[in-house]
Amino acid sequence: MTFKLRAGIIGTGFMGSVHAHAVRAAGGEVSAVAGSSRASAEAAAPGLGARTAAESPEALIARDDVDVIHICTPNATHAELARKAIAAGKPVVCEKPLATSVEDAQELTDLADQAGVVTAVPFVYRFYPAVREARDRILRGDAGRLWLLHGSYLQDWLVGAEATNWRVDSKLGGASRAFGDIGVHWCDLMEFTTGHKITRLVARTSRAYDQRETGGQLSSVATEDGATLLFETDKGATGSLVVSQVSPGRKNRLWFSFDGTEASFSFNQERPDTLHVGRTESSSEIAVGPQTLTTPGGRRYAKLPPGHPQGYQDSFNAFVADVYAAVQGQEPEGLPTFRDGLRAALLTDALVTSAAQQSWVDVPSTDNPLELLKSSSAAERHKQ
Ligand SMILES: NC(=O)c1ccc[n+]([C@@H]2O[C@H](COP(=O)([O-])OP(=O)(O)OC[C@H]3O[C@@H](n4cnc5c(N)ncnc54)[C@H](O)[C@@H]3O)[C@@H](O)[C@H]2O)c1
Repeated sequence: MTFKLRAGIIGTGFMGSVHAHAVRAAGGEVSAVAGSSRASAEAAAPGLGARTAAESPEALIARDDVDVIHICTPNATHAELARKAIAAGKPVVCEKPLATSVEDAQELTDLADQAGVVTAVPFVYRFYPAVREARDRILRGDAGRLWLLHGSYLQDWLVGAEATNWRVDSKLGGASRAFGDIGVHWCDLMEFTTGHKITRLVARTSRAYDQRETGGQLSSVATEDGATLLFETDKGATGSLVVSQVSPGRKNRLWFSFDGTEASFSFNQERPDTLHVGRTESSSEIAVGPQTLTTPGGRRYAKLPPGHPQGYQDSFNAFVADVYAAVQGQEPEGLPTFRDGLRAALLTDALVTSAAQQSWVDVPSTDNPLELLKSSSAAERHKQ
């Protein structure tokens, strides 16, 4: 970093802390934090290493000692906060989902383009060295023709009707929970790693629990515990994805296998120190390290010798380092921006629509505004 960037972090929970660590690892500092109240910001500021607690998110955005805004609050608050940050002319790192509707995600993408500010959405799994190695090898042709793209993203933190969180409430989390929360990570990773784009999908959503406890009472749940999808891509592949937040024993098991006519590449986020390359004659488990990875992408992000796994926080640090490099005028390859957040909103909208209509649904491209204009949101379609 050529000069020390000063961050303002809105939201002091799990991700507020991950962002704060990453800011410091990138050579920046946390000037201020804001929470749902002044008191919560004051309570959290020392633990997050922040110099001060702001009165409100708006006061944080306006501060002269805040160069970059990090939005780490519940999903439904993202759009309004991101609008304010862009209006202040400041770079924004907005947690996924960028917005809970396609309209808001499109508007934010347009506003950011017009304002010319750097934007980013933490699709952090792009920053694992094994993923970059797989991507470079696939894009140079090692897999042959990719024809089958499959995987799953399984967690268990919502096992039990007593387990709950703001994400369960669609007013705070959005219409889709399991897919909107974690399925979008898998889809972003698949599209980023393979260069394929999902053009159409059919989905089913389901629940392990129809009621969950809130304030000591069981109440009905509208969002899904799990989703299953079939999809087709613009380059002629088909694929499937299973997403669940109620899979006992699975903590954060994002797994994929991208299968080509020559080789398959597979990765498990809970074992980030290896990349499996499958071949008919001989398969290999590549141990992640700066010497064992051979592609520019793999080497760029592998910092530690094999056997010293780089995990989630390391990858998040690499993501924020790239954001801060972009703020300082560099163009790091593969940075997920608001346009990628819009892409996730389009996929989520297609999933919700498909599950409601029980039919295949086309997914518009973010590169084709006319196609986007023609598409109405899932919410609108459901009203019709
Ligand atoms: N990129 C990733 O890998 C990843 C991982 C987990 C969560 N997330 C995203 O990060 C965001 C935050 O998730 P989390 O797990 O940290 O949640 P959390 O519940 O741990 O923290 C949310 C924080 O936001 C604060 N808050 C709530 N309403 C607010 C408001 N109106 N103004 C200011 N602060 C407010 C709360 O006090 C809390 O500190 C979500 O959008 C989630 O989808 C991303």
